[in-house]
Amino acid sequence: MFYTTKSNDHGLPHDPFKAIVAPRPIGWISTISARGEVNLAPYSFFNGVSTRPPIVCFSSEGRKDSVAFAEETDEFVCSLATWDLRDAMNMTSAPFARGVDEMNEAGLTAAPSRLVKPPRVAQAPCALECKRLQTVTLRDVDGHEVDRHVVFGQVVGVYIDDRFIRNGLLDTAAMKPIARCGYHEYAVVEEVFSMVRPEVADVAPPRALAGGRRGG
Ligand SMILES: Cc1cc2nc3c(=O)[nH]c(=O)nc-3n(C[C@H](O)[C@H](O)[C@H](O)COP(=O)(O)O)c2cc1C
Repeated sequence: MFYTTKSNDHGLPHDPFKAIVAPRPIGWISTISARGEVNLAPYSFFNGVSTRPPIVCFSSEGRKDSVAFAEETDEFVCSLATWDLRDAMNMTSAPFARGVDEMNEAGLTAAPSRLVKPPRVAQAPCALECKRLQTVTLRDVDGHEVDRHVVFGQVVGVYIDDRFIRNGLLDTAAMKPIARCGYHEYAVVEEVFSMVRPEVADVAPPRALAGGRRGG
């Protein structure tokens, strides 16, 4: 099938877009307001976009509390959402009133961060302490501003639970991170594979081409 997003005439009961852009890592974003209120919510329009300096971003559909608080105090923390924490993560996505501490509501423990004020989720195996760089309010293809706000932050501190470091490497599969797919679906990383990036000279010509040469 093919459909245009202008009419969105895919004919399916639900929009498949997020099932295609999948799996998406989940930034479990904690922030603190100018008045000191703690907020925690999951964002799967989240990713790392630079290694040096390390930069992450999350996108809010509507100006939600996480954006409001990140703009008030210019800091946020991304805790890693894992299989063991899936129910708690989901609970923190409920539409609590601004000012309600979702960490408490979900029975999680707040651990102090080292370099920023928002706490991390103590139960999460990793957390990225971030200073806000900018918020970009998106525009559509017609140039109209849309109510979608991407918050970029530079990672200034990294917490890792040492139990997940094995042979000098962070064991991603052992942490069982969860990721968002389409609909109500999630993926869990329990297995990884390695592939070394080649030099141009190491890249073999496509099979058909190689076969063609032999034949000629
Ligand atoms: C796994 C998951 C991922 C989500 N990703 C996003 C997202 O990327 N952007 C967004 O605006 N809302 C997202 N949501 C919904 C927010 O978590 C929800 O609206 C939450 O109440 C926002 O909290 P806040 O107002 O405290 O920031 C997601 C929910 C779940 C369960």
